[in-house]
Amino acid sequence: MDTKQILELFDDLDNNDQTENFIQKNKRPQRFHERHFKHARLRDTEFTKGQDDSARSYNFTYKAARFEEWWLLDSIGGFYENKLISDVLRRLKGGKEASVYLCQASPESEASLLAAKVYRPRSLRNLKNDQIYRTGRIDLADDGKKLFKEADVNAIIKRTAYGEELRHTSWIAYEFNTLEILHAAGADVPKPIAMEKNAILMEYIGDVASAAPTLNSVTLDRDEATQLFKRVIRNLDLLLTSERIHGDLSAYNILYWDGDITLIDFPQVTFPEANPSAWVIFLRDVTRVCQYFHSQGVKCDARKLAADLWTSHGHQVVKDVHPLHLDAEKKEDRRLWQKQNTA
Ligand SMILES: Nc1ncnc2c1ncn2[C@@H]1O[C@H](COP(=O)(O)OP(=O)(O)OP(=O)(O)O)[C@@H](O)[C@H]1O
Ligand SMILES: [Mg+2]
Repeated sequence: MDTKQILELFDDLDNNDQTENFIQKNKRPQRFHERHFKHARLRDTEFTKGQDDSARSYNFTYKAARFEEWWLLDSIGGFYENKLISDVLRRLKGGKEASVYLCQASPESEASLLAAKVYRPRSLRNLKNDQIYRTGRIDLADDGKKLFKEADVNAIIKRTAYGEELRHTSWIAYEFNTLEILHAAGADVPKPIAMEKNAILMEYIGDVASAAPTLNSVTLDRDEATQLFKRVIRNLDLLLTSERIHGDLSAYNILYWDGDITLIDFPQVTFPEANPSAWVIFLRDVTRVCQYFHSQGVKCDARKLAADLWTSHGHQVVKDVHPLHLDAEKKEDRRLWQKQNTA
């Protein structure tokens, strides 16, 4: 595969609609009746109304808009009640997946400031594209333990409302659980503090005036870039030692503060041995990191670096294209699929 083909393959990782297309080409697309959406809207409105009283008792410095308020309080109220935080100072970043808030830690805490990452309500998030990362992952409950109960597993498979709730929590539990493992292994990640079913509390990178910028917005001189590139490689190596692949690594998910880097944003973490697309996902992480450091004057061969790291951990570089990335409608993909199967 040449670089262009690799990059096209990466694009497919972000949109795996065609997977269903290839594997279940005879299945008609599922359509939801309008009453499905009505029901979801009604449930959210009822929930919002029910939150009004608790909203007044917190009195945080950060004044959230009405809809955001119930979501924020429902998500991080537990951190406040368990005396991990005493205030929410401001919102650092609002994204399509989650918002991150700067919190005042309780006086008995080691740190004075903490970051709370609060995921959007399940009904407003799009979990469609998570399947590729979830392959080979056992879902986790909000206590971080693996979900084994048959009823829970079935609810997730059948995508009932309860199952979707579990799936959402598992996504967050993987972020927290990975931070715990990586932090204990000495990786450059924020120290995890606590998890609620919709939020995680962690070390804050930055100071009271400003949060650490993401690396993509920073220009480095070549010496510093070379040092930091080595640091990122060390972290990639630690991740593989911990049997994890980040899955969405790039300069957008690396913070830069006081000359150091911190890797963030782990919910889509995946496993090298259990996921058939693991090599391509890992290669994409390394390629994106190299793209940034290349722009800062560091020479790097992404494919060689990825292959060296990958094989040094006993994994095989898989040349085949996984069916998840093939499209049954395309002649060349069908031919490739046949060729791979005969081989
Ligand atoms: N521990 C932290 N300390 C300081 N800032 C943080 C921390 N964690 C996250 N942030 C800020 O919040 C932003 C969003 O966090 P994160 O990448 O984990 O969430 P996301 O859902 O992927 O959001 P996005 O879609 O914007 O990437 C980061 O880009 C960073 O600016
Ligand atoms: Mg991010």
